[in-house]
Amino acid sequence: MKDLKRVVLAYSGGVDTSVCIPYLREKYGVSEVITFVADLGQGEDLESIRQKALQSGAFKSIIGDLVKPFIDEFAFPAIRANALYGDKYPLSTALARPLIAKNLVAIAREFNADAVAHGCTGKGNDQVRFDLTINALGPDLEIITPAREWKMSREEAINYGERFGIPAPVSKKSPYSIDVNLLGRSIEAGILEDPMSPPSEDIFEMTSSIKEAPEEPEDIVIEFLNGFPVSINEEKLNHLELMKRANLIAGKHGFGRLDMMEDRIVGIKSREIYETPGLLLLIKAHKEMESLTLNPDVLEFKSLVDKKWGQLVYRGFWYGPLKSALDEFISSTQHSVNGMVKIRLHKGNAVVIGRSSIQNSLYREDLATYNKNDSFDHESAKGFIYMWGMSNKIWAESNNNNVK
Ligand code: ARG
Repeated sequence: MKDLKRVVLAYSGGVDTSVCIPYLREKYGVSEVITFVADLGQGEDLESIRQKALQSGAFKSIIGDLVKPFIDEFAFPAIRANALYGDKYPLSTALARPLIAKNLVAIAREFNADAVAHGCTGKGNDQVRFDLTINALGPDLEIITPAREWKMSREEAINYGERFGIPAPVSKKSPYSIDVNLLGRSIEAGILEDPMSPPSEDIFEMTSSIKEAPEEPEDIVIEFLNGFPVSINEEKLNHLELMKRANLIAGKHGFGRLDMMEDRIVGIKSREIYETPGLLLLIKAHKEMESLTLNPDVLEFKSLVDKKWGQLVYRGFWYGPLKSALDEFISSTQHSVNGMVKIRLHKGNAVVIGRSSIQNSLYREDLATYNKNDSFDHESAKGFIYMWGMSNKIWAESNNNNVK
């Protein structure tokens, strides 16, 4: 491989990405490693992570505050798309990767780097999301993935790092592999690799246990404008504040945990635990808002679009032609998604208990009512059913279907 001058490395501060720094220099002939750590609201001390990169031999170490674009440009479109991979997982990790990769490319451009690098292994989803995004936004950039190639065990990686002054992790490593951002936490590995072994309570941080959740239910009202949530309990909040508030309220009541089997992009099944309280709450409320304000044909078709949108994002195609086209379809449906949804939170549940829309409700009480104000024309049902069932009746007659 030709010697590379500058490489931008996605950096987390963990053992693997730290070891990547000397490894890139020694094995790939890189002269300057620029590290990039993204602030996605994970609540870590990013300055000390930045320093750790420098101590590990980085030429330059950059922190990017991506919290606002993460929520505005990634999480909120996912709410409009009711995005749930496998009908369950709201893509909390998957949504972050294209944003990180986009910033890697931007930094590579700014500093005239020849390549970008990341520490993903060869059987996860994140490598796919990084690589596809880099290919889409910086097709000329080389992608270097040491952890996919070095074949070192964790101990070997630690020993390798120690040779370059990277201290072995002091605390005993958590038995789990955890990814955290403002939207949620994903927890894998350790005893969770046995799909029958239940998650222990201590792995959760954003959601209360059922036992500790308040005894009393709490009702909240979420307001939507053009398919985006804009207020909770009549308090107008910007997207970021709203997401944080939704996390707190849902998390307090223990809503938002998932324990599921997931089909990874690379073809294997894995057992995943998530806690994504706010995002799941907002998607549930958004779906309800749509059910009041969208026509049945649109609802039915949009559910197919939503499913495909979620699959594309999970599978790394955030920057792809079908995803862009589906975005336009979804946007075109959201102008009428306005109103309020009332939800009762209690002991791990979030149950819709009301919905209203002054401007865009398609519910007509005079047509639905069973009382004397009913304005539905019952007689016209006869002619409708005559034609609606015609072909079925002909089929039944010609097949001699009559019950004797
Ligand atoms: N299975 C989830 C996903 O693909 C979570 C991945 C977590 N990533 C990680 N590097 N720990 O979105």
